[in-house]
Amino acid sequence: MSKAIIQDTFGGPEVMGWRERPDAAPGPGEVLVRHTAIGVNFIDIYCRRGSIPLMKVPGTPGMEAAGVVESIGPDVTTLTVGQRVGYVMPAPGAYCERRIVPAERMIALPDDIDDRSAAAMLLKGMTAEQLLHKSTQATAGDTVLIHAAAGGVGLLLTAWAKALGCTVIGTVGSKAKVGMVREAGADHVIVSTEEDVVAAVNTITQGRGCRYIYDGVGADTFELSLKTVAKFGHVVSFGSSSGAVPPVNIAVLSPKCVVLSRPQVFPYIAERADLTAASNNLFAAMRKKIIKSDIKHTYALADAATAHRDLESRRTVGQIVLLP
Ligand SMILES: NC(=O)c1ccc[n+]([C@@H]2O[C@H](COP(=O)([O-])OP(=O)(O)OC[C@H]3O[C@@H](n4cnc5c(N)ncnc54)[C@H](OP(=O)(O)O)[C@@H]3O)[C@@H](O)[C@H]2O)c1
Repeated sequence: MSKAIIQDTFGGPEVMGWRERPDAAPGPGEVLVRHTAIGVNFIDIYCRRGSIPLMKVPGTPGMEAAGVVESIGPDVTTLTVGQRVGYVMPAPGAYCERRIVPAERMIALPDDIDDRSAAAMLLKGMTAEQLLHKSTQATAGDTVLIHAAAGGVGLLLTAWAKALGCTVIGTVGSKAKVGMVREAGADHVIVSTEEDVVAAVNTITQGRGCRYIYDGVGADTFELSLKTVAKFGHVVSFGSSSGAVPPVNIAVLSPKCVVLSRPQVFPYIAERADLTAASNNLFAAMRKKIIKSDIKHTYALADAATAHRDLESRRTVGQIVLLP
């Protein structure tokens, strides 16, 4: 037996119960992983609320974790018992002590990548890489705007974009978050709750706007993104922490010939070869100190509800990890 966060209905953080359940044996192609650290992502909140159709109830949220292989299915040859692994999967279920997972989604963790960093960084780091290198080709000389720059993905985007030579403008929801975004490499930080973001970006860019806008906030920022993007620029709408962006009339893109995209990390890493390449790129960026694991909040796994309350009320910064 082991314990898991289980919710019987969609709703607020209070629906997440902490219950015992039997451990199953891994079948063909599967491994049983004992988690040592579990990453918390905003998508877990969408799952808990039922606002995206990825999780059924009763269900367990969570899409990334690290741990140790405890047993392997009959035909699994790529992993061994006792091996350290991490994973990212669109199928929720990571908020638990032990989980059966497909062997082909496992990433063998190198010795210099610790479990907590892997759990904190796999999904967010691969997302940042996809946004900067695949969805866009951010490069030296580009001015980029990163909304929620103090967030989990936001701090990684900020550091990585700066390392590429971009001029980085970040927005944050409160003054307390300014320092850490500057420390991550931002050239300019705008407190979106106190300042006129459009006016501030116009001043910084002398009216030209930003080549790339990375917008994970959604409903509250989409208009701002269109107003602050440069002519021939690209708005990357990759999340909805403030709510979903309403349907868009594509005619709004034409005055500035704007590109609008809506990328998602899971199709990007769906093929095994792509998952391996993306995780290798992430580990290489961590080793070169382009980005770093900087876990700002840890919670007991049983207390996942508090982690969700803090994340959805904009009280967290950077990476969040649950500990079994
Ligand atoms: N497309 C993909 O594949 C992909 C992958 C990973 C993440 N994402 C998306 O990226 C975004 C960031 O994810 P994350 O896990 O790193 O979360 P996060 O950025 O750490 O947390 C969300 C942040 O959004 C900002 N925010 C603004 N308005 C908000 C509101 N009304 N309610 C809550 N937060 C609000 C807050 O920062 P301020 O207070 O500083 O404004 C908050 O800290 C999410 O939308 C997530 O779904 C997408």
